[in-house]
Amino acid sequence: MDTTEFLATVAARSSHGLRGNYESIGDDYTVEQDYNGYTPQHQDIWRQLYRRQRDLLDGRACSAFVSALTRLDAAEAIPRFDIVNQQLEAATRWRLVPVPGLLPDEAFFGHLAARQFPVTVWIREPDEFDYIAEPDLFHDFFGHVPMLFDLEIADYLQAYGIGGLKAKRLDALKYLARLYWYTIEFGLIAEPEGLRAYGAGVLSSPGEIRHALESREARRERFDLVRVMQTRYLIDDFQKTYFIVNSFGQLFDETAPDFSLLYRALERLPELEP
Ligand code: PHE
Ligand code: CO
Repeated sequence: MDTTEFLATVAARSSHGLRGNYESIGDDYTVEQDYNGYTPQHQDIWRQLYRRQRDLLDGRACSAFVSALTRLDAAEAIPRFDIVNQQLEAATRWRLVPVPGLLPDEAFFGHLAARQFPVTVWIREPDEFDYIAEPDLFHDFFGHVPMLFDLEIADYLQAYGIGGLKAKRLDALKYLARLYWYTIEFGLIAEPEGLRAYGAGVLSSPGEIRHALESREARRERFDLVRVMQTRYLIDDFQKTYFIVNSFGQLFDETAPDFSLLYRALERLPELEP
């Protein structure tokens, strides 16, 4: 899919068109993080979102997330990606690339395969504090970036990017997307102290972090690769099912084998309700 096609597809899917500004994208869909373009109101929104979410992390966020978030020291201002990159490159050889918003699959996977994490540059409006349909700076940064400091997650995510390019060729993106969703976005981990969140969609949402860990309505199952790939997900409500890993090493090891045959097998297995 080329750029024009992508823009047309996204515009057709949402009533308000594409939220970000795609006018000055490079070939890889990256833009500049125009730091001086953030207004005092934007900085204020960041601080409020940060504080509200930080106060929910105790006993809910996994330990890797909490320690990296502290190192990032991002409570008082929107982070500067180039400064974060110095820390991140030293820790796991990943770096952040600023993007206007959603990317076409190949561009997204290509970045992950190159240990580059796309982070949306714009931040939500005050009336979107509790719910936002598209990923913004707060979700992308607060939810995802701390986990990139974990070596096993860092390696898993790169393998995911390479696997994504392959799944695209094999016409199996539907299955691989579910893996991303139920791990990187909504994953839970059993830590010695108890169940904790490591998925960015959980960690960046005030409602979902409590729902995922505490609600009696939520189903929590142990991570099972085939089940994950069979299970549909909800994009506009809290998840009904969450999958629990015992370690990030388990995640990496269980997803390391070649998925080609698994994708074939999945065509014959039933889809499971969310
Ligand atoms: N093992 C997968 C494949 O062969 C690649 C992959 C690794 C996908 C890790 C996701 C996560 O396609
Ligand atoms: Co995300």
